[in-house]
Amino acid sequence: MQVYGLVGSPVEHSLSPPMHEAAYEELGLDARYVTLEPDADRLDEAFAGADALGVAGLNVTVPFKQDALAHVEPSPTAEAVGAINTIDFGPETPVGYNTDVSGVTRSFAHHDVTIDGSSAVVVGAGGAGRAAAYALADTGATVHVANRTVERATELATTFSEFGVTGAGLGSLESTVPDADLVVNATSVGMEEDASPVPAALLHEDLAVLDAVYAPLETRLLRDAAAVGATTIDGAWMLLYQGVEAFERWTGETAPVDVMNDALRSHL
Ligand code: ATR
Repeated sequence: MQVYGLVGSPVEHSLSPPMHEAAYEELGLDARYVTLEPDADRLDEAFAGADALGVAGLNVTVPFKQDALAHVEPSPTAEAVGAINTIDFGPETPVGYNTDVSGVTRSFAHHDVTIDGSSAVVVGAGGAGRAAAYALADTGATVHVANRTVERATELATTFSEFGVTGAGLGSLESTVPDADLVVNATSVGMEEDASPVPAALLHEDLAVLDAVYAPLETRLLRDAAAVGATTIDGAWMLLYQGVEAFERWTGETAPVDVMNDALRSHL
């Protein structure tokens, strides 16, 4: 039996176990997906132990995505983003991937939204914001990052300066969103309360809006976007497609995307 899992804190309400186990069942794979909460200061031992025990692969989530990078051989994409969310233990050195990047690009592709040549605004400059900004810029969008803490936005813009990414405070939404084609919410705003990081008056019908928040599925931002006729993409798509790439990296099989999507949505 192959063992896969998720390390993070907290992970007990994660939707990854039902999503991945539905895929194992569909393809008849003898595998299990478990959730684990290692001590934050023993990450090194946790990964070495998992490797020694024959764990085939791990997803990594908050708060370990950046720290985990140092314990693996990062893929070029993971290295560029500065964080990993997937480890393939494989036969040799553990390899770290950042599948949040394809989580973003494939979510837009699934909704027939073209990234290349578009003008994109990413709200948030944490781990999710970094992955989204890199995903969009690397696919040919002109990207602006708006963040509550201005220094984090300008720092991110500096990191991705080769792509011409710009960064500023949330006030910059006023001048960027009206002319944008894409908006990604990569903050946690909308999760705890019925609030949106983007003033509704800035939204317009030519936008495609992706919200990384998936609980609730219909956030205030997506409701506001739908009200003006914009294309809306909920956070379960990002969760699905980051899992799809992880599954394919680990198993070498084509992921049963519809089965994984159904499993995910039935647990939301
Ligand atoms: P993640 O790895 O999930 O991106 P994170 O690194 O903690 O998590 O980043 C959270 C993001 O949500 C940040 O961009 C944060 O803004 P700051 O950099 O200013 O902290 C943003 N965020 C969280 N709560 C927010 C709020 N109430 N208003 C605006 N932005 C908020």
